[in-house]
Amino acid sequence: MKLYVQTWGCQMNQLDSARIVQLMKSADYEPTDCVEEADLIILNTCSVRDKAEQKVYSALGRWRKLKEEKGTVLGVGGCVAQQEGEALLRRAPHLDLVFGTHNMHKLPRMVEEAREAARRSVETAFYRDPFYLEDPSGPPEVDGAKAYLTIMQGCNKVCSFCIVPRTRGREVSRASENIVRDVEELVRRGVKEVMLLGQNVNSYGRTGEGERSFPELLERINEVPGIRRIRFTTSHPQDLSPELVDAFVRLENLCEHLHLPLQSGSDAVLSRMRRGYRFGEYIERIKELRRRRPEVAITTDMIVGFPGETEEEFEETLSAVREIGYDDMFTFTYSPRPHTVSAKVYRDDVPEEVKADRYRRLQELQKGISLGKNRNLIGAEEEILVEGPSRLGRDQLMGRTRTNRIVNFAPNDATVPAEMARVRVVDATPNSLVGEAIEASVL
Ligand code: SAM
Ligand code: F3S
Repeated sequence: MKLYVQTWGCQMNQLDSARIVQLMKSADYEPTDCVEEADLIILNTCSVRDKAEQKVYSALGRWRKLKEEKGTVLGVGGCVAQQEGEALLRRAPHLDLVFGTHNMHKLPRMVEEAREAARRSVETAFYRDPFYLEDPSGPPEVDGAKAYLTIMQGCNKVCSFCIVPRTRGREVSRASENIVRDVEELVRRGVKEVMLLGQNVNSYGRTGEGERSFPELLERINEVPGIRRIRFTTSHPQDLSPELVDAFVRLENLCEHLHLPLQSGSDAVLSRMRRGYRFGEYIERIKELRRRRPEVAITTDMIVGFPGETEEEFEETLSAVREIGYDDMFTFTYSPRPHTVSAKVYRDDVPEEVKADRYRRLQELQKGISLGKNRNLIGAEEEILVEGPSRLGRDQLMGRTRTNRIVNFAPNDATVPAEMARVRVVDATPNSLVGEAIEASVL
């Protein structure tokens, strides 16, 4: 039987989809890229932005014919599934199953019941014990030398714009020994770089009695023989502890990159967002990290057009970005999400064209900063992990530096895909570097 999975959203969702494939393989489903030949279609959703619910109904509408013609089983998982639950089954009569963010492990049974007994089901329970994040068959299959690994899920913060605490629940952390065992298994499969995932990774371990803290977990993973690079995302500025800063100095396999979402440079907006810090506190932490580890690259998320954002408040964001000099940035246009505090308390009063203009201005500013930083690297030698063919074609390969910069480069005889290589940077654009292979690095 064939399974088609469509994934929206973040890395965590991509990893969840890999897990769906793994779970369904044990029930004799093979993945396919062709939706028409699928016996089972799973839509793994994200509801952080946009009109996510509407998009789900449109996708289901497109697949309705397949259901009618050949009885394809249709399922929706992820954040929209968690948020809408029963309502999805009511509004889409041809939908078979809805599974929330803590219920993926129930999927094989739900699919079987849909197939054998035409039973439609919804599973959206939340669990405080992270058993549902553990897989008897180990971490999902990986392609290449990079792997994602979930270490915690959920968020106990209360950012007024964010639907994640509602869709992913409260923080739960996996046992550190299970995480270490997964890293060892990934290394056995050829993985050299692991990206630790969680909504708030640096809150890891707070909920487990006697468990390792996040810096202690990093230290333990750093000792796994064969692991060359450790990354993590996403961190909250409040939880950037001195011990975590120390880890960037002490752990040789922890990459020099920190994604630390600021969201706005204005204290008034940060307060309406309920982020729990002021800009001054944020920048002090960045300065301390840079003082201890000057090579570290810092990237961020920013929201423009939050309710009530004035031109002056937006300009505070521009000047914060100039002052910090981020290596890269994800910019988002505010969209009110159901059940969030900001959607209930504030009017979405920044006109769409003003939001679009601020989005453009912020991106322009960051593009110039990124280009300047990348140009400064021309002539430098960088260690990269070779990921595969470059999108630019022309027989070029692509890899990333420890600071997470993309390098497109001309390989030489010593270059081996999925291995480390050394390149010399010969040119730069705002989004990537251009390099030439020097030699394969000694492993
Ligand atoms: N845990 C992360 C943090 O500490 O900020 C954020 C997780 S969220 C899934 C990813 C990004 O989406 C956020 O950093 C924020 O910039 C953006 N985002 C979340 N809700 C949003 C909304 N309602 N409108 C626009 N952007 C939003
Ligand atoms: Fe969302 Fe804030 Fe948590 S952005 S994931 S509520 S830290």
